[in-house]
Amino acid sequence: MTKIEAPVYKDQIPGTSGLRKKVKHFRQPGYLENFIQSIFNAIAPCTGKTLVIGGDGRYFNRQAIQVIIKMAVANNFKKLLIGQGGILSTPAASCVIRKYKADGGIILSASHNPGGPDQDFGVKYNTGSGAPAPEALTADIAKHTREIRHYNIVKIDDIDLDIIASCRRSNTQIDIISAVDDYARLMATLFDFTVIRSLLSGHSFKMCFDAMHAVTGDYARTIIEQQLGAPKGTVINAVPLPDFGGGHPDPNLVYARELVERMQAGSGISLGAASDGDGDRNMILGEGFYINPCDSLAVIAANAQLLPAFKSGLTGVARSMPTSRALDRVASALDIDCYETPTGWKYFGNLLDAGKIQICGEESFGTGANHVREKDGLWAVLCWLNILAVKGKTPEQVMRSHWKSYGRDYFTRHDYEGIDLDDAENMFNTLQEKLPALAGQTFGSHRVGQADNFSYVDPVDNSLSSNQGVRLLFENNARAVFRLSGTGTSGATLRIYFDRFEHAGGNLDLDPQAALNSLIECADEIAGINAFTGRSKPDVIT
Ligand code: G1P
Ligand code: ZN
Repeated sequence: MTKIEAPVYKDQIPGTSGLRKKVKHFRQPGYLENFIQSIFNAIAPCTGKTLVIGGDGRYFNRQAIQVIIKMAVANNFKKLLIGQGGILSTPAASCVIRKYKADGGIILSASHNPGGPDQDFGVKYNTGSGAPAPEALTADIAKHTREIRHYNIVKIDDIDLDIIASCRRSNTQIDIISAVDDYARLMATLFDFTVIRSLLSGHSFKMCFDAMHAVTGDYARTIIEQQLGAPKGTVINAVPLPDFGGGHPDPNLVYARELVERMQAGSGISLGAASDGDGDRNMILGEGFYINPCDSLAVIAANAQLLPAFKSGLTGVARSMPTSRALDRVASALDIDCYETPTGWKYFGNLLDAGKIQICGEESFGTGANHVREKDGLWAVLCWLNILAVKGKTPEQVMRSHWKSYGRDYFTRHDYEGIDLDDAENMFNTLQEKLPALAGQTFGSHRVGQADNFSYVDPVDNSLSSNQGVRLLFENNARAVFRLSGTGTSGATLRIYFDRFEHAGGNLDLDPQAALNSLIECADEIAGINAFTGRSKPDVIT
């Protein structure tokens, strides 16, 4: 074992979802090593522990895994479970951690961010429950990165990641395991595969799954084509590539353009779905019909009793604060609890562990449940398939009848990407200063009822997370929420979320941009987006 002196990097602070930087940044001498050693120091002692390792297959994945293996051996881990080819989708990693009762896992991914030598990379630590490290642990890891003096590594040959096999190096057993099998087995226990199989192998129902050249390619082909009998070719862009084919592996209307084009009205394809770089996000489309992730979450919760996993009912659900309140309406109809958490999956972990919730989600194309501790793209698609198969309806019919029962929460998110950090900070500081005076003021047709910066007290461990986004709550059941992204890697990304409730008897057929237009104008008037950033329109609208 060699101890190598570690240069200290001051920017190794995990964000919404682990440490994310450009590949070049990660390639600085000792940069990856310092962060990995800091994780190991934070969870010490490593002796006797089992660690899962896998990533989304992006550029630098394999090299990073070889480094982590050598460091894990040097730090005396008992066992490493590594996905074949260095691959594990994020939900599959969570599944493997839980199934084999590992002590934790390292997931290499920058999720939906592009990959390649000039693009993004990321490292995330998940705990033994399979959940992303809670804030206290990520803060401790960050503290270690500032105090680190050396890292431990062994000089051994690279391990063959492509063959399922076991070997031993020093005190560490290294198992290369199937990346797909455990996850696929878990899915089969949660859904009615028989009813989905008859839907997918019939002639009237066609689906298209866009894997976006990212990690879900193999998972979707195995589950949707091989196990559920959908015709070959149902999964498109199925071959995972280190640069995702040059695309941006984010399943939304902008980046999943090929799928959106295929799903135009008249295409005869009933269900369209896509997943992101590491397989935890999903987008659901009907034929010529987009389903907002907030609505998708509400539909899944409302129809949970149709899914074998939730036969005995739900006790609670949760959504991140900026996610629309469509879920809350379902919860109140079911008379179950509904929690509002800060943005980021890590806040759902305690609620899931404590059995307070079974289903949860975020507006950012993240939906999941208590089967793992990560959001799960393919799981959401299987939920829809199962619901459609039982109901014998199209996604559009299911969505419209949902709105007719619960009313519709119009929702949109506007992202301003790569804005100047100082501009973003000035805008936020000015808005923050304005907050106390805003309640009672009217802007256009919107009167502010409450204006604050969201804080959350975790009901399980009482930990406080403050500064989680500025909320403008209007008296006409509308909201505007402002946050800065914690996952971006260049400049600042400003996210503004808008939603407004329309009751079941109101106009349910508007284009969300039109339905929210006056709210969007009012938010600009209050926050001065254009004045501070110089931008006249968002880069991405979802
Ligand atoms: C974004 C999403 C958030 C999600 C995270 C990881 O974080 O907004 O909901 O949990 O990616 O997928 P952000 O960049 O907004 O901090
Ligand atoms: Zn992701």
